[in-house]
Amino acid sequence: MKKVRVNTSAPYDILIERGLIAKTGSFVKNVSNAKKVCVITDSNVGAFYGETVVKSLKEAGFDTAMFTFEAGEKNKRLDTISAMYSFIADFNMSRKDLVVALGGGVTGDMAGFAAATYMRGINFVQIPTSLLAQVDSSVGGKTGVDIEQGKNLVGAFLQPILVIIDPDTLETLPDKYLSDGMGEVIKYGCIKDKELFETLENNNAYDIIEDIICTCVSIKRDVVERDEKESGERMLLNFGHTLGHSLEKIYNFEGLSHGQAVAIGMVKITAAGERAGLTEQGCAERVKALCEKYNLPTSDKASAQEIARVCQSDKKASGGYVNLVLLNSIGDSFIRPTKLSELESFIG
Ligand SMILES: NC(=O)c1ccc[n+]([C@@H]2O[C@H](COP(=O)([O-])OP(=O)(O)OC[C@H]3O[C@@H](n4cnc5c(N)ncnc54)[C@H](O)[C@@H]3O)[C@@H](O)[C@H]2O)c1
Ligand SMILES: [Zn+2]
Repeated sequence: MKKVRVNTSAPYDILIERGLIAKTGSFVKNVSNAKKVCVITDSNVGAFYGETVVKSLKEAGFDTAMFTFEAGEKNKRLDTISAMYSFIADFNMSRKDLVVALGGGVTGDMAGFAAATYMRGINFVQIPTSLLAQVDSSVGGKTGVDIEQGKNLVGAFLQPILVIIDPDTLETLPDKYLSDGMGEVIKYGCIKDKELFETLENNNAYDIIEDIICTCVSIKRDVVERDEKESGERMLLNFGHTLGHSLEKIYNFEGLSHGQAVAIGMVKITAAGERAGLTEQGCAERVKALCEKYNLPTSDKASAQEIARVCQSDKKASGGYVNLVLLNSIGDSFIRPTKLSELESFIG
């Protein structure tokens, strides 16, 4: 079993091994004195893995119940949280009890937010089952929900007490979500780890996914440990995301998935860096080829003008600048504050 220790204000372990979810109960027992455990999952993941996780928790002596919500980002909202609170309260959970998030990023963000706020905060354990959740959203302590005015606008920081990653769960994850997660995996290679980038180039990532997950989680861990509440270095994790987010918005979060938008954003910003003489020549081509290898798109018909306009309306509050993340070379990134008024010509 691989173990990654995260030394945030409250330290915790990330455990990675095939077949691990069947042993959930004994690992949770090691870190929690809870009597009751509420497993929170969505309709897809619950159908595949709910029973295995609940059975394991019961065998370890926990009084366990499961709350299931309908899968999908559209349900990442406050009424779902409200239903969770009622379920947890009806189950008579106390402050010592525990929430287990079993699912993708939507489940983790919402179960984490419910745990962060129920009785002003109870413990939670993450069992991420999508590649995106395994390499990204389950590490770092950000939780939250969407509101009408925007995604993730309401939330809280809460570090889990344990993260259990079972790469076998990816066998049932639809291909499009696998590619989505690969967008984030490629991002880690770009910003921090040339060796990871080359491993992705020279192998089929899915054949060695356990190692890849461990590498990505360690990179995110290192960044989060140094910058838990997101002031400086953590911004590097936004590589490809500034332009990507604008693209997602242009298509109303329906035309492009997050990973697809990030892939296009990474290629565009790296090409812009090359044109400006800030990024080593040839990087954009390599990023593009790698995204293509993992079935991610690398261009879009939206113009630089459109992308810049959406970004400007997004960032109005931050003093006329946007912090772009650029590559010096593969595996080496930096933050470049850029005037919003110059964004269009920079990316154009
Ligand atoms: N907290 C953070 O730091 C952070 C970081 C990045 C993204 N996010 C959030 O994560 C969310 C996206 O995450 P996601 O892509 O995992 O979305 P998701 O949770 O909706 O999962 C994607 C789809 O895959 C299904 N699924 C998940 N695991 C499965 C499995 N093993 N087998 C079969 N089906 C499975 C889900 O039911 C869903 O239909 C967004 O809401 C985003 O805001 C949070
Ligand atoms: Zn992302």
